[in-house]
Amino acid sequence: MADYIKTGVIGHPVSHSLSPLIHGYWIKTYGLSGSYEALDVPEGALAEHVKRFLDQGYSGFNVTLPHKQAALDLCDTLDSAAQAIGAVNTLIWRDGKLHGANTDAAGFITNIREQKPGFDFSAGPALALGAGGAARAIIYSLKEAGVPDIRITNRTAEKADALAAEFGITALPWHARADYLGDISLLINTTSLGMTGKPALTLDLSALAPHALVTDIVYNPLRTTLLEAAAARGNPVVDGLGMLLHQAVPGFKAWFGVKPKVTPKLREILLEALK
Ligand code: ATR
Repeated sequence: MADYIKTGVIGHPVSHSLSPLIHGYWIKTYGLSGSYEALDVPEGALAEHVKRFLDQGYSGFNVTLPHKQAALDLCDTLDSAAQAIGAVNTLIWRDGKLHGANTDAAGFITNIREQKPGFDFSAGPALALGAGGAARAIIYSLKEAGVPDIRITNRTAEKADALAAEFGITALPWHARADYLGDISLLINTTSLGMTGKPALTLDLSALAPHALVTDIVYNPLRTTLLEAAAARGNPVVDGLGMLLHQAVPGFKAWFGVKPKVTPKLREILLEALK
């Protein structure tokens, strides 16, 4: 019998995480022997818990809030995305060493490539709303994908300025965000605005070109007011659920040796769970 492979997602809180559902589905679908658990670890206690889990025979983990930055310091090696973003969402234990990866950026790009195969990242500027952890991963991904001009805007201007300086991009004033839509090919909401329980994102899309792609990292609700407004005026839209699904692929492949597929059936299962 093949080795039993133990994995999981480390976070706090973690009970709401959809990752056990995604990986559990793949374990079952591919007939693998293993588990993927939700591992609740309090802030500040990551190192001791990861050590304990590894002693117990775990092969690796996903890492979510609030541990993504702290996970960097535990790694013997890091992939270039984790290094540039400054956060790790995937830990792989191999040959006595802990490898850290950040798969959020690739998940974001793969999702768009899959849902809008004709979209050309090099065709024009992109505007990202927000300057938090998710924005860092997305800015890195946009650079990697060859977006020629990347702009960000954030309620707290200092955070946008710092990110702009770090990544060599442009920061724009939040209050005038609707004025900067005219020439962009891609609009991304990386803030938590629009999420169930959070305030709505207010943005007048009048100036947006009809071909511009609009995407949101918020997936609960799946059709955010931003996506609804964009779709209503005929813009192509991509929802955030695919990013969550695609960021899960590399970890699963590393731990279980099988590259899992993101299928409509799996999307359906997640949508059901979000109801
Ligand atoms: P994450 O790491 O998931 O990106 P975060 O670091 O808390 O989370 O960032 C959340 C983003 O949503 C930030 O850009 C935040 O803006 P601030 O930097 O000004 O806090 C943005 N955000 C949250 N609530 C907001 C609100 N009511 N209005 C405007 N932006 C908001």
